[in-house]
Order: sequence, then C-alpha cells, then structure tokens
Amino acid sequence: MYKIAVIPGDGTGPEVIAEGLKVLEAVADKKGFKYETVTFDYGGERYLATGEVLPADAVDQLRSFDVIYLGAIGHPDVAPGILEKGILLQLRFDLDQYINLRPIKLYPGVDCPLKGRGPEDVNFTVVRENTEGFYVGTGGVMKKGTPDETAIQTGINTRKGVERCIRYAFDICRKRNDKKMLTLVAKTNVLTYVGDLWWRAFNEVGEADYPDIKRDYAHVDATTMWFVKNPDYFDTLVTPNLFGDIITDLGAMIQGGMGIAAGGNINPDPGGVSMFEPIGGSAPKYTGKNVINPLAAICALSMLLDELGETDAAASVEAAVMKVTGTKLKSLAAGRMGYSTTEVGDLVVEALA
Ligand code: IPM
Ligand code: MN
Repeated sequence: MYKIAVIPGDGTGPEVIAEGLKVLEAVADKKGFKYETVTFDYGGERYLATGEVLPADAVDQLRSFDVIYLGAIGHPDVAPGILEKGILLQLRFDLDQYINLRPIKLYPGVDCPLKGRGPEDVNFTVVRENTEGFYVGTGGVMKKGTPDETAIQTGINTRKGVERCIRYAFDICRKRNDKKMLTLVAKTNVLTYVGDLWWRAFNEVGEADYPDIKRDYAHVDATTMWFVKNPDYFDTLVTPNLFGDIITDLGAMIQGGMGIAAGGNINPDPGGVSMFEPIGGSAPKYTGKNVINPLAAICALSMLLDELGETDAAASVEAAVMKVTGTKLKSLAAGRMGYSTTEVGDLVVEALA
C-alpha cells in the first residue's frame, strides 16, 4: 500500500492533479497495486487566509509518505518569493531532495519549435542539483532604498552536495543506456572556484566508478545554443541548481511546451521522500476554465510511479500519453488542444486500456 501525499496547490494545480489522480486510479486498477492519498492544502489561498506558508509539522508529516504529488505553487495576490521559497524550496531543502530530474523528450505528434526536428532528435535528461548553489539564500542587503544600496547573494557548493548529484547523474546515464555520455554544464571559464569543484568531482567520480560513461563538458551559455542547434547531441546532462533551472525551461519549449514538461525533486537515499510536479506554474489566467493541459502532471505521475518501483505502470502511463499526443491532440497549448482538461485525462485513461 503506497502512501501518496497530494499538494494540488494554486491556480490550475488542482485541475491538472485531478486528471493525474484519475490516471493513477486507472493504472493501479490495471496493474493491481494499492495506494492511499492524503491531500494537503498548502498554497496561496491558505497563506492569505492564515498567514502561514507551511505549518510547523508539515515536513515531519510529509516524511511519513512514500512520495509527494505536487500541482503548482504561485498566487497573483502574494508577493513573489513567499510561496516559492516558503513551500517549494522549503520542501526541496528539508526533505533533502537533492536531485531535480527533468527529462526532455519530444513525443509523437507534438509540434517542435525547432524546424525539421522530430522525436528522434529531442530525447535527453537534465539532472539539476536541487539543494545548493544560488538557491540557498545566503546574503543580504544594506542601505536599502538609498543610492548606496548594496545587495549580495552568494551560491554555496559543497563537495558532498556536488558529488552525490554527479553520482546520480552517472547512474541515470548508465540506466538510459543511450549514448552513454554525461555532459557537465557549468561556467568553468568565469566561475572558476565553483567550476573547478564541479570539474574535479565530475572527472574523479567518472574515472573511478563510471569508466563506461563518456565524459563531456559544455559551458552553460553554449548549452542553450546547442539545445536549439543540435538537441540530438545530448544524452544526460548534470548541472548546478540555477543553470539547471534556466536550461530546463528552454528544454521544456523544445519538447513542446509547459503542457508536457514534468520533473521530479528526488531524494534517492534510502527512506528519502521525493516529490513530482509539472514544471509549469499555476497559470492564473487559465484557472477554473478546464482548458489547461494536464499531460505534464500526468507525465509527472509516470515519473512518480517509476520512483515507487512501479516501472511497468510508469511505462504504460507514458505510452498512453504518447498515444494521446500522437493521435488526438491538435496542440499542447492551453485552450488549443481540441479537448478540455478533463477530456484529455479521459483520453489517457482510455489509451491505458
Ligand atoms: C522550477 C521553478 C522554481 C525554481 C521556482 C518556482 C522557485 O522555476 O521548479 O524550476 O526556480 O526552481
Ligand atoms: Mn524553473
């Protein structure tokens, strides 16, 4: 019996999570596994009503689940940073979800903005470090609001944090069994201290324990260029937190947009609790209209099932999504799919059967 914590969150989060849960019910039935869900109301509405982002015991409660399924965090009436830091980043940090795993895969029938590119060209995985770098929030501001205002925000990279992320990336690369090439994405020519730490950890770990994996390097700026010019070049990439955040939005676009892009915040250690989410935001302008694309949330569900060890179920959900993109949807964009949110969920359930 799997215990799944569900945080639908803000905006369109609840709508897409509802479709994911519909698919979960269908695939559990088909594959014969059992689960229970508990829903938590963390998000903007709760914050506006109570002034609290996360209750004090939230993390401890979540620790008792096998996995977390998250919709979206972000509310137009709440200042930027409060919910993002107070909920999303807090959970990533406190649950030590040190990997942000983002597959970039163009599914059949999906329009790629890159001319002449198809599913055979866009299929790689980004392993983003998820608990360090510029996301730690170290820094401060002085003389705020005066001409002498000074702000400083530093990134923190530890050998332990870098190395565990790199090891995970080598493992994923080996499992993908594709080109067996891991690309380190950094900025070793300017961020020399941090770049050197990543560079040495990457090469030492690779040389000692992953001789079967080819080691490759690209600067982060050049990487954005290659994503557009030669996406077929990549297999697995590993990169610090902020770079990973930036390049995976570009990745999401070349796989067809936020309607399909999913990610996992993973704690791979024994007993670690991981959290899966569509990577797009809460899309306030589409909220409540039944037009948002739930496929990203359904792809996140597929990753969640993989993490639980239900690899068969995970593959069936992904295959069903591919069937739907390949044969049904006109577009992945909200309002232009040719179907409503709930109908797309139904189509995936139908494709599972
Ligand atoms: C993401 C998001 C978050 C991030 C924001 C909402 C804090 O952009 O998951 O990529 O920067 O990590
Ligand atoms: Mn992002």
